[in-house]
Amino acid sequence: MADVAVALVVHVLSVVWWIGSLAFITAVFLPLLRKAQLGDEQAAFHAIENRFEPQARIAVVLVGLSGIYLLFRLNLWSVFLQARFWWLDAMALYWLLFMLLLFVLGPTGVLRHVMRRGGDEMARWRRMQRVHLVLLVIALVIIAGAVSGSHGFG
Ligand code: HEM
Repeated sequence: MADVAVALVVHVLSVVWWIGSLAFITAVFLPLLRKAQLGDEQAAFHAIENRFEPQARIAVVLVGLSGIYLLFRLNLWSVFLQARFWWLDAMALYWLLFMLLLFVLGPTGVLRHVMRRGGDEMARWRRMQRVHLVLLVIALVIIAGAVSGSHGFG
């Protein structure tokens, strides 16, 4: 079972890196940006985005690979349809959403186009923060469900 332990450690550390960065962006960086406390907002945003995106891509791929490995090793395919294991389906859907955002909608410019539509600059930062907050809250709910559910408290 050493391989399961390694996969679980990789899985959880990658989740920490990915969702921790999302929390920093949502709770620290975007509020400062909205209050115009960072000077050139566009430059600050692109500097953070350029550093965050490659790291998030690596973390998301590691989460997916380790998660799928765990599914096979623990033979959990059958529980996908059981309501009390909702967090397993939620993990997979959340992961798919980020794969789409980071590998398709981001690089093709669709995301930038959607986020820049309508309103002045401040309205756009507000919208950006709202979207990040929703994504963060969903991740926290999934993590809470996964930790309590996989230890028999679900
Ligand atoms: C393709 C995507 C994913 C798959 C296939 C997957 C699969 C799994 C599996 C099979 C486990 C072990 C469950 C158990 O020990 O009973 C697990 C654990 C975990 N997953 Fe995922 N996962 C995925 C994505 C995610 C995402 C996106 C998050 C966070 C938002 C996440 C958070 C966690 C956490 C925190 C645990 C540890 C639970 C614990 O043992 O305390 N996973 N995952």
